[in-house]
Amino acid sequence: MLKKLTLATAIGSLVMSASVFASSLTVGFSQIGSESGWRAAETAVSKAEAEKRGINLKISDAQQKQENQIKAVRSFIAQGVDAIFIAPVVQTGWGPVLEEAKDYEIPVFLLDRGITVDDDSLYMTAVTADNVLEGKVAGQWLLDTVKDKPCNVVELQGTVGASVAIDRKEGFSEAISNASNVNIVRTQSGEFTRSKGKEVMESFIKAENGGKNICAVFSHNDDMAIGAIQAIKEAGLKPGDDILVVSIDAVPDIFKAMMNGEANATVELTPNMAGPAFDALISYKENGTQPPKKIVTESNLYLPKDAKEQLDMKKDLGY
Ligand code: AHR
Repeated sequence: MLKKLTLATAIGSLVMSASVFASSLTVGFSQIGSESGWRAAETAVSKAEAEKRGINLKISDAQQKQENQIKAVRSFIAQGVDAIFIAPVVQTGWGPVLEEAKDYEIPVFLLDRGITVDDDSLYMTAVTADNVLEGKVAGQWLLDTVKDKPCNVVELQGTVGASVAIDRKEGFSEAISNASNVNIVRTQSGEFTRSKGKEVMESFIKAENGGKNICAVFSHNDDMAIGAIQAIKEAGLKPGDDILVVSIDAVPDIFKAMMNGEANATVELTPNMAGPAFDALISYKENGTQPPKKIVTESNLYLPKDAKEQLDMKKDLGY
């Protein structure tokens, strides 16, 4: 296969206008799957952002498996795409396939999750939130809410090995580390899904005196929190009151739960990771501009008082 960046294409790119240039680009996106409302929104927003710029976006659904993502990357390389976007399901194991993309001079952009590789030139940039900070914001909210009261926390972790699960756990644990009254008493993965979140919360409730020993649930995403809310209700307790609910993502369903008094706080994760990545790609292809190694998105905290406004805003944005 011919390497992608020939002199002719490089000279050609100099005389093309931005929109004409973007409309000549094809990007392959290896998406994780559809485990959560946030993920569905990210896929929809990526399509819309590509369309806005006239970029041809090919999405491959990995169904939560890294091996499918690796196959997708190889297929994108064989198709000679202009760039590859990956939302990496887990943090490790990416070196060899990214070397292959590098051999063909196809830039790789990471969306919403990070990876650990020895050579960070294997990807151009990662568009992600600071997920340690997201965990810290959630932990700080809990500290401010419970003050000096004793609080046993149960934690619903995301996908095992996912950078965001590792980082959110670290941030939350760090935030509560100096508060002797707030402790994580149980922690387990709910795989970022609503059904698994519910199942794991049921087991926590059973193990903790029918839920009476639990003061709060920290869920690594909103979907698992929604599942947990269901489990709390089925146990005869009031979510948002008997058990505080704090999570991450800021998807419409958690705002609906807040409006029902069943959830207390969420930390934003924007589903628009692709937009900044497309812009970085276009600048790189047009003028060789190297983006920063990390493009960090916002991590605002939203409370029930913000729920209606956020819900309306999301509706307007079509999420
Ligand atoms: O990587 C981002 C995480 O993946 C979101 O917080 C979660 O909902 C999704 O499944």
